Amino acid sequence: MSVPVTVIVPTFNERDNIAELVARTAAALAGSPAEILFVDDSSDDTMDEIARVAASAPLPVRGIHRDRNTGGLSGAVVLGLAEASHDVCIVMDGDLQHPPELLPALLARYEEGDADVVAASRYIGGGDSAGLGTVMRFGVSKAATAITKAMFLRRLWRSTDPMTGFFLVDRSRVEVNTLRPQGFKILLEILVRGGERHDLRIAEVPLEFGTRRHGTSKASLRQGATFLAHLARLRFGKMGLFAVIGGIGAVANIGIMWALTHLGMDYVLAAVIGAAATIIGNFVLQELFVFREERHLASRLWVRFASSVSFNGVEAALRIPVMAFMVETWHISSVIATAISLVVAFLARFLFHALVVYAPRRQRADAAGEPPVDTAALRIARAIDAEAMRPGEL
Ligand code: GDD
Ligand code: MN
Repeated sequence: MSVPVTVIVPTFNERDNIAELVARTAAALAGSPAEILFVDDSSDDTMDEIARVAASAPLPVRGIHRDRNTGGLSGAVVLGLAEASHDVCIVMDGDLQHPPELLPALLARYEEGDADVVAASRYIGGGDSAGLGTVMRFGVSKAATAITKAMFLRRLWRSTDPMTGFFLVDRSRVEVNTLRPQGFKILLEILVRGGERHDLRIAEVPLEFGTRRHGTSKASLRQGATFLAHLARLRFGKMGLFAVIGGIGAVANIGIMWALTHLGMDYVLAAVIGAAATIIGNFVLQELFVFREERHLASRLWVRFASSVSFNGVEAALRIPVMAFMVETWHISSVIATAISLVVAFLARFLFHALVVYAPRRQRADAAGEPPVDTAALRIARAIDAEAMRPGEL
């Protein structure tokens, strides 16, 4: 008698794949207690198709349609984990690139009893990722896997394919509440963030990644950028991501100046253009990747932009005199003074953005009276606390 399992299938416009997926899943799991749970963000009639197929399916089939696509594919999977009827869940793509015939192998491996997560890996013996398509995509996938493993050596040591979208997870072993789903890489999120309490034990079975049946892939350059942001956030928290963007800005600034002066432009004008481009670029990146969630509750766009830019201007103007002051009165070397002033300026800039630019707008006191107590000091304490609590391991 095998364990009951919920097969979670995230879907985004997969209408033409539903019937075959349900039929093959039912056949593969015949005899074991199982349900299929679709979590759908489609704009087509995938939901109608799910209802139609469910009516005559040999196993329970449910579909949940989300009104808002928060967290993309990963957000859908996390909702599936919360709504599943059983603790043992298998996440599987809805386009048949993940053959349902592999479901029994995942379950059998889990039933050996020494794993909390069983991943279907494209990179172990018998695995195959031909279905990824182009050589380009294959190379990108390999490189991303190597970098990610290097960043999370301990947690991903036993995993050859932390990016696979086909895996079994024992929900009772994972802290689902700590997950912050974003983009495509939900297994990575689970392995890195979901194992705070228990170290998750990982096992793998080989996967032959097929080719998509109908429809088109939703992977894109944007997913790539989301993935990099996801990595930076997992590894260093918001502050690290903010620093990375600042670093990119500095390099871009120098590059723009170099290019413009080489084209014969006066260096002062080149510096002004370089600085302006960098300020705007940094602001856009920070809006998109660092303070993505915060910005919805914060003040309006132009207010955020104005306060961010003014702070950076004031900070730049103050840094040099403060540095001179340190050198003159404390008699420390100018190199050390520069280093100290840069670190202090960075911290100040991060705190200012987190606590002021992207602070939630003060909520209006409602009829009951008292506005919520949320002093600056409390917010600072909470921000520092949150930074300190981010997962880290080296
Ligand atoms: N609910 C929901 N919401 N489902 C989504 C969304 C979304 O925003 N985006 C994609 N999906 C669903 C698709 O409908 C499909 O069932 C599954 O997620 C995978 O999406 P694809 O667009 O087919 O992705 P892929 O084949 O490029 O990527 C797959 O392989 C990668 C390995 O290279 C996924 O399994 C990735 O997670 C995996 O990393
Ligand atoms: Mn696919």
